[in-house]
Parts: sequence; C-alpha cells; structure tokens
Amino acid sequence: MYLKNMWYVAGFPDEIGDHPIARTLLEQPLVFFRARGGQIAALADRCPHRFAPLSKGAIVGPEKVIQCGYHGLQFDARGRCVHNPHGPIPQVARVPRYEVCERRGLLWLWGGDPEQADTTLIPDYGDFAEAPPDATLRGYLPTQCHYQLVVDNILDLTHADYLHAGGLGNGSLTRARPVVTDLSPRSLHVSWKVSGEPTIAAFDVHLREQGKATEQWSEVTWTAAGNMHLRTGATLLGEERSQGVEAMTLHLAVPETVTSTHYWYWSVRNFAISPEANSQIQKFIEFAFVQQDKPMLEAQQRAMQGREFWSLRPILLASDAGAVRARRKLDQLVLAEQEMHRHQSNHENPTPQQPELGESP
Ligand code: FES
Ligand SMILES: [Fe+2]
Repeated sequence: MYLKNMWYVAGFPDEIGDHPIARTLLEQPLVFFRARGGQIAALADRCPHRFAPLSKGAIVGPEKVIQCGYHGLQFDARGRCVHNPHGPIPQVARVPRYEVCERRGLLWLWGGDPEQADTTLIPDYGDFAEAPPDATLRGYLPTQCHYQLVVDNILDLTHADYLHAGGLGNGSLTRARPVVTDLSPRSLHVSWKVSGEPTIAAFDVHLREQGKATEQWSEVTWTAAGNMHLRTGATLLGEERSQGVEAMTLHLAVPETVTSTHYWYWSVRNFAISPEANSQIQKFIEFAFVQQDKPMLEAQQRAMQGREFWSLRPILLASDAGAVRARRKLDQLVLAEQEMHRHQSNHENPTPQQPELGESP
C-alpha cells in the first residue's frame, strides 16, 4: 500500500524533451512529455481506444499533444482527446492525468487525486543546482527491491562499517548512537556524531592532515515516502565544520513496483572540485552502490520471499531507531489516508439503512 497523497520524485526534468518517456511509479505505468509552453505532463500510459501505451506514440503539432502510435488519437496535457482522425471526438476519450511539478532541478509527481495536489508538501532541498558542476554528481540506480529497504539503508548508516568497510566505513558509526528527532508527522531527522577519531578514508585524504582526530557527522532528514537528505562530513578536531569537508546528497527512493525501486541521487560537496576528482568520486560512489548496496538490497528482497516486512518479525537494533520510526510514521500516514478514503466513499455511497424491527420494509 502506497501513500497516494504525497509527492514522489519522478526524475530530473532535463530528461523530458521531445519524445514521450515511459516510467512506472507506484505500479502505475505513466507517460511523461513536454507539452505546449514547456510544461511537463504525466498521463496514464494507456490509450483508451485499444490500450496501446501512449509512450509508443509521438509529440505532434504546435500544441505539442501526444499522438497514439496505433490509430492516431491525440491527447493534450490534461488527458483530453483533442483530435480523432476517424471522426468526431468521442466524449469518453480521456486519459487519467497526474499532477507534476518541476522544482529546483527535480521533477515531482503527486501520487493521488490531482485536484488535491498541495505543492507546499514538496520537501525544500535548497538549491543543489547552484553547486559547481565539478562538485556535483547525479545519477540513477534502479534496484530490484521494495523502496523501503532503500530507506532503511540510508536511515541506518552503520551498514557502511560492514558493507563499505574501508572507504566509507571504519567502525565509527557503529560506536556512535543515532539521535532521532521527530520533525513532523511525515519527516524525521537522524544524526550520528563521532568525536576524537580519525574519519573514514574517503574524507581523511581530503583533510589538511591525515590520520588525525576529527569531528565527524552524518545527518539524514527523511521525508515520506522515500526522500532522504544526507549531510555528511568531517573536520579536524576543534576546527569549524566549514574548515572541513562536507557532502550533501539527496537519496530519492521511489516505488516503481512492489519489488523495484527508482533510486535517484544528487550529491554536491565542498572539496575535490575538479573534473578529474569528480569522475573519480563518481566511480567510487557507483562502486559502493552497484557492487555493495545494490546486491545486498536485492538479496534481502529475495530472502524475504515476498513476505511483508513486519510479518517476518525483524529484530530491532539500536542502530535502526530512525529507520523503524520512519516505517511507523509511514504506516500511520497510509492508515490515515485509507481511513479518509473509506469515510469519503461511505459518504458518497451510504450503506442502505436496515429497516428497524417492526418497521414495514
Ligand atoms: S489504441 Fe490508441 S488510437 Fe487506437
Ligand atoms: Fe550503502
């Protein structure tokens, strides 16, 4: 069950150009395209005639409508049929549309009723786009697992000490205890602070002196359903954070299906700013993800054999306080949404009153 009335990242807006793009989110096959005026549109990827995927069609005309590749019906950004080459426009020819919003280099999609889309709920991530290109990494890491396993992965960073031992892990996060702070019903903050130890190798090489005692921090803000803003860095003991090294990364885990996740990341940093350093760090990050996180996440998914997470009675450790609390919050949000739906549909279709005993039917 997904939280519907929430914004989900659907990709980077600069991916959407003159050709329709097929992308499944929340198990809904969708088509994205740029309509008139450059506005991005998202429609269900199914023509109402013979159900051809609209993404197999083309964007046509000055109005930039989408034309079905099968028999040529055309639909505008709101999913209305605007042209039927075979005769009059059928009144019922309509494709469900989704609300989308381009904001600061991210494309967001509202998972629920477009009329209820509330842009104030889009997380504020400041301006990653303003960082120098040589200190910026962006990428896409599709993963065959439930998206909440990716959320768990980032909210319990102690996995770095084992899965990424060496470059990204040196045991320090396991020794620190996470401090979890509630921010709102749909967000929380987890922070690990390590003081007086050398930092991880990936940071240590970029400090002024190597192998020295440092202050090290890892701070994640999670916002439902799968958005994580991670700030992580180190500075020599007793120095200001600004004198040290710091990376800020968005980890955006979005359900494609129950067992697959779109994972977009966007990382900026205040050190190693050059084209060479950038491509080296990109290789390092992709190695950690593709060779370490991804195989583990996918193996976890297989080991769970399609069972629901809580039904397997996972053991709870001190290190996953943030991950567990985020799961509970999400469960509550989904429950509240379902109850609201039930309430609304009861209102719309009230159950017929049973006649009272003795009353004539
Ligand atoms: S299936 Fe789209 S026009 Fe026929
Ligand atoms: Fe990892």
